[in-house]
Amino acid sequence: MKRILLTLFSLLLLAPATADEGMWLPSLISHRIGDMRAKGFRLTADDIYSVNKASMKDAVVLFDGGCTGELVSAEGLLLTNHHCGYDAIQSHSTLEHDYLTRGFWARSRDEELPNKNLNVRFLVRMEEVTDRMAAGETADEIVRKAEAEGKGYKAAVEQMYYGNQQFLFLYEQFDDVRLVAAPPSSIGKFGGDTDNWIWPRHTGDFSVFRVYAGPDNKPAAYSPDNVPYRPRRHFTVSTRGVGEGDFTMIYGFPGNTQQYILSDVVKYIAETSDPMKIAIRTGRLDIIAEAQESDPALRIYYAAKHATIANAWKKWQGEVLGINRLGTYDKKLRTEARFAEATGDAEVLEELRKEFARALPYYYTRELLAETLLTLAYGYAEEEKADPLFAKREPTERALYRQAFGEYAARNNLLPAIPEIEAGIGQYGSPEAYADHIFGLAVNDPANGEIAALKTAVGKLHAEIVGRLGTRSLRNFNSARMNELYARYVEGLRRWAAAEKREGAMFPDANLTLRVAYGTVAGYEYADGEYHKPLTTLDGIIAKDNPAIYDYDIPQSLRDLHASKAYGRWGVEIGGRRTVPVCFLATNHTTGGNSGSPILNARGELVGINFDRTWRSTMSDIEFDPAICRNIAVDIRYVLMVIDRIGGAGYLLDEMTLR
Ligand code: ARG
Ligand code: ASP
Repeated sequence: MKRILLTLFSLLLLAPATADEGMWLPSLISHRIGDMRAKGFRLTADDIYSVNKASMKDAVVLFDGGCTGELVSAEGLLLTNHHCGYDAIQSHSTLEHDYLTRGFWARSRDEELPNKNLNVRFLVRMEEVTDRMAAGETADEIVRKAEAEGKGYKAAVEQMYYGNQQFLFLYEQFDDVRLVAAPPSSIGKFGGDTDNWIWPRHTGDFSVFRVYAGPDNKPAAYSPDNVPYRPRRHFTVSTRGVGEGDFTMIYGFPGNTQQYILSDVVKYIAETSDPMKIAIRTGRLDIIAEAQESDPALRIYYAAKHATIANAWKKWQGEVLGINRLGTYDKKLRTEARFAEATGDAEVLEELRKEFARALPYYYTRELLAETLLTLAYGYAEEEKADPLFAKREPTERALYRQAFGEYAARNNLLPAIPEIEAGIGQYGSPEAYADHIFGLAVNDPANGEIAALKTAVGKLHAEIVGRLGTRSLRNFNSARMNELYARYVEGLRRWAAAEKREGAMFPDANLTLRVAYGTVAGYEYADGEYHKPLTTLDGIIAKDNPAIYDYDIPQSLRDLHASKAYGRWGVEIGGRRTVPVCFLATNHTTGGNSGSPILNARGELVGINFDRTWRSTMSDIEFDPAICRNIAVDIRYVLMVIDRIGGAGYLLDEMTLR
């Protein structure tokens, strides 16, 4: 009886993917298609992924190496997030043509703006190559052969399940990607950092690009002779909208999850790593916010920096909260105990623990460096110093140096201190005084030998850490030895799952390869008695509208539209009032990199563009909680309305397939 109970218990603990958890490999989606169809999906595995015929995968791209985008016309028109297109939009913005502030709408193909260093990748195919590699072929050979198959082909061999499986991913990369349209930031970034990771949300987080190809429809470097790329497939756009309970599927490039890490690592993340990083960033954000409040010019100057620091800062807070609330550490411990009992391999866990304990000081110090000494510039260009703003910035920059050296000195307790820094602190009396000295050099004499020596010393420590971990990739708290052990552990987990007929329930961690996740449009209980509905509307934007608050100051055209209620075809009746839908929540399992991903309905039609999660969901990178984990999408009807009524770019809709 006890045994049966334990088994049931372990099933509950280890039974992932019963709800909406999982990021599945498209080529293996046939294993999930039954479940997807039971939840409402109407299409087939072949519609999602096929090598021989056009399928949905041919309409999804890795955008700019870290986001996702989707094709929405036969002429290469592509949608992604505003925050994914931000660099491109910013690079074309000048004082006279401030596209970030005012938006950008190319009136003809001639006005579409080329971008240096912006590419998109379509997946040609993915293919398991575990056997080929076992037979002696190297990843390099496999990559070289695959890339020779076509023009612009880029290949990579990626590990799944910690190297238990190897997959070749073959991409066709296009380097001529032009900016077509972007809403003003007051729509595309509405809510700014205030609303980031927050629901209810009202951000029109989209931008529009076009993929160009050579006359042969193959990848080509930028040329005025290039023509719009004709994709094998583009998404039909649904204008019928979504409602709570509707099936949704997301197709994109999630970057990094850590579902199978050891309990000790969970504990380290929740008790040491995240709290340290949050505390240090709180200090940096306070310094920057003080500057921003003191002067409007500084508010603008530090906006991007503040946003970047605050993004992960907020995410980690949600992650810690979620891990603690779910008791992830205890659950992992119990699962490990059950694993040892069921498989007899307690040793792999012991070895993992030992190796993690050995490696921990290196990760910790590496993370500490990344949040402190590695954030400093150690030199300011003459041009930057000539800017009148520089004088205003100096106290802030100095404070950031003091904070970085102070935090490094206070928290560096697992590895010996960098000798140069120890000496400097000794000589000047405190980390802050030493920071003042270094800051003085960074401003007045960046070519000074002391600065060079300091940078070399930090670089040396970094190299030493990499060497001790035995791996070039410092993600995920793995050392080379841990990777080997994880391979064994995760293989054991899979066998155990198969023995208990839970095979197919384990998905490989996200690693920026193409994945499918599915779920439903759903609200959630935010707090006792407080239910958050899954849809927001234009009325919510108007309620937040406040010209005195930068993040909530909307364009006059949007106010006018709301006042006139002349929404035309984009208006809908919700709760007896006429409005326009703006964002929605769904249960799809997503992570960073899924930004810009298409959200599709049961028929595979585009209903939204993913751009965020709620901050309390972010432990889904480690443990997904169906009750609370929600991704946030901008409703495609809002995107279409903004293009049409705010941008006056209805001609873009003409080339889409609307339904
Ligand atoms: N939180 C989202 C993500 O992790 C959006 C970030 C961009 N938006 C912002 N307000 N900083 O990428
Ligand atoms: N905002 C993230 C992105 O840019 C998505 C997320 O973390 O949910 O990819």
